[in-house]
Amino acid sequence: REEAKSVVLVDDPSKEAKKTKIYAVPELIGSRVRIQGWVHRFRPQKTNYFLVVRDGSAMLQCILTGDCIRTLDALDLTTESTVEVVGTIEKVKEGQTAPGGVELLVDYWKIIGRAPGGAEAFEGRLQPDTDASIRADLRHLELRGEIATSVMRVRALLLRAFRERFNARRITEVTPPCMVQTSVEGGSTLFEFDYYGAPAYLTQSSQLYLETVLPSLGDVYCIQESFRAEKSLTRRHLSEYTHLEAELVFIQFKDLLDHLEGMICEVVDVLLADPVASEIIKALNPDFVAPARPFMRLDYRDAIKYLNEHGITKEDGSDHVIGDDIAEAAERKMTDQIGKPIMLIHFPKLLKAFYMQPLASAPDFTESVDVLMPGVGEVVGGSMRITDYDTLMAAYKREGIPSEPYYWFTDQRKYGTTEHGGYGLGVERFLAWLLKRYTVRECSLYPRWMGRATP
Ligand code: 4AD
Repeated sequence: REEAKSVVLVDDPSKEAKKTKIYAVPELIGSRVRIQGWVHRFRPQKTNYFLVVRDGSAMLQCILTGDCIRTLDALDLTTESTVEVVGTIEKVKEGQTAPGGVELLVDYWKIIGRAPGGAEAFEGRLQPDTDASIRADLRHLELRGEIATSVMRVRALLLRAFRERFNARRITEVTPPCMVQTSVEGGSTLFEFDYYGAPAYLTQSSQLYLETVLPSLGDVYCIQESFRAEKSLTRRHLSEYTHLEAELVFIQFKDLLDHLEGMICEVVDVLLADPVASEIIKALNPDFVAPARPFMRLDYRDAIKYLNEHGITKEDGSDHVIGDDIAEAAERKMTDQIGKPIMLIHFPKLLKAFYMQPLASAPDFTESVDVLMPGVGEVVGGSMRITDYDTLMAAYKREGIPSEPYYWFTDQRKYGTTEHGGYGLGVERFLAWLLKRYTVRECSLYPRWMGRATP
């Protein structure tokens, strides 16, 4: 420590250093660069320190030698401290590996913000066996970890890929409101709040709003938070989730299914062609293969038959009958047995929301679809919508929904009605499937579920 005290590192202003982000350094071999970031890991040795610095764009291995390791900062270094490192970028030596294939030979560095060591040291806060509720309290720290970072990176690339594929189809993005005074998916999962003295809700789905702009913008989509006051704690339910919804006009049910299948497969292809996303998918879900087209299309009535023939019973141990809701556990068991994406179609009218178009051949069933993925189950719910004014009015009545607050939605059936349909995809569920995560909670930045709205 005495020797370290006498060593004061000085940055040499005569040697120019280009301030850069780490993602760009593989192109800067031989240049002197200045990097700012967090100490992800470090390994102090007698004659050199190996430091892995992270700046949010990538990681960089840095090598400190000589006077660089004889400073007080070097003695006091801790992980998650912020540092500035300056030096020359070199290719890693033959037979060695480092992120990006390069390393930084440091000639000057300093600590910008020292993270605590000892009892408060970062690495002690989150251990593999840390209790789940403490992990949830420490989500802001967990997000610095490699797995959470990877999931969030793919999440961003996934949203970009969806936008790109929507754009390629000339489907326009809109931003519907989150504060609403009507429900879409039934009253039981509505979050209610006081809106200047009147009751209002957090949106469950933007579908009805998307439908209203078909006559002006044509096919539309949105990527918007949806809210569900779910009263159960499952691995696939959040209270707030990112809902990717699209609405397509002048289509028939088969077109809706083809579109969905096309979007899912193209988005997967885009991600597998992306070097960052494909590397993460390989690391987190090594057995992942792009789903084959066409997806299996399974009529609800055949699914009930499948469940009974394969001994997948209801929760009370009895057989399923037509008209039963297929519970989450049964649905997942069937999907995992079949082992590939399933489009489960034609649900009974009474199980589904008021707006679904009845099947012409069997009006007690609907032109509806759930896309089921192995490991997760339902990731998409969609349908064709009732086009006829009188049928819609009868549907409100059947479901006990007062029609007045929906006047703006009903008007679509008055002023030029048309066949149309759409869907909602749960982004966290899609990611849980793609990256083989145990729960959707890992796929949300700051997940909310029953009893948890912090941090
Ligand atoms: O099946 P849902 O309820 O359908 C609708 O909301 C339609 N109005 C969508 C539309 O047609 N525009 O929800 C659609 C999807 C589900 O398949 C699921 O992936 C996701 O939203 N989802 C949830 N994800 C996480 N937590 C929850 N509590 C979810 N509820 C639905």
